[in-house]
Amino acid sequence: MGRGIGQVFAQGGYSVTQVDVNKDALALAKDSIYDSLSKLEKKGLLRETPETILKRISFSTELDSISDSDIVIEAVFERLDVKSETLRKISAVVREDALIGSNTSSISINLLSSSVRNPERFMGIHFFNPVPVMKLVELVSSENTSGDLLKKVSELLVSIGKDPVHVKDFPGFVSNRVLMPLIREAILALEESVASASDIDKTFRLGMNHPMGPLELADFIGLDVCQDIMEVLYNNYGDPRFKPPVTLRNLVNSKKLGRKSGEGFYKYGDKK
Ligand code: 3HC
Repeated sequence: MGRGIGQVFAQGGYSVTQVDVNKDALALAKDSIYDSLSKLEKKGLLRETPETILKRISFSTELDSISDSDIVIEAVFERLDVKSETLRKISAVVREDALIGSNTSSISINLLSSSVRNPERFMGIHFFNPVPVMKLVELVSSENTSGDLLKKVSELLVSIGKDPVHVKDFPGFVSNRVLMPLIREAILALEESVASASDIDKTFRLGMNHPMGPLELADFIGLDVCQDIMEVLYNNYGDPRFKPPVTLRNLVNSKKLGRKSGEGFYKYGDKK
């Protein structure tokens, strides 16, 4: 998601630094941003060429490269320990007045805020995949987030073509609290052989006009990501409607993670 977030800010005219610990991931990010921009250009949706937009993005494996950034958005794995550690490292290098956002899908913003130096300048900024296409962003304040930050970040997002909603700091916010039980129930229907995976998905595509059925969507999001989000929801609400199903665990344990690994509920050839 980090790629998409960097891309939409660069499209909006901002200078962006993409940071990843893995050099190969940065090279892939650059290619994928170029592909995405080319698609948008073909449809006449860009005011500038992909090359011009791409020039606004620099790629680095060094966290120091963001020391002068106005806003930093963390988009690492959906694990509390990984996010907390990353936020601590970000806090140690950025300017005192920098805004820090977390693209967490489900983890408490109040909890994460204890890892940053200035909790009043920290909030949840949750984008949706594919970021260049999806207009929604969930904005989540903690008890410490300063009153004007929400307004400032909302205006910033509107300036890059996004349409934010404000949600309270409840696990999974609105999106994943509602989406994950749907995906979970679809997996249980598959486990109980109620219908085939493709018929379960077809039900939602043709019966409810969803662009993707719940199993294809789970593959698209990443089955590991879905499992991590369900864990957070289950641990926080203690409600079995969020419990990761065995089939999901088995797929994740066998590294069948959905589109990105080439197989999940479906096989994808070289589609990643
Ligand atoms: N960059 C630019 N354009 C892109 C793109 C990208 N990364 N990905 C897709 N597109 C464009 C395509 O060019 C195409 O444009 P066109 O219709 O004008 O030709 C359009 O989007 C549709 O793409 P495709 O024809 O390739 O394929 P689909 O019609 O299947 O659409 C999709 C792909 C946009 C992903 C659509 O299936 C969709 O909206 N799916 C649901 C996505 C969704 O629910 N996302 C939210 C997931 S939850 C989440 O992210 C939260 C997290 O916390 C888990």
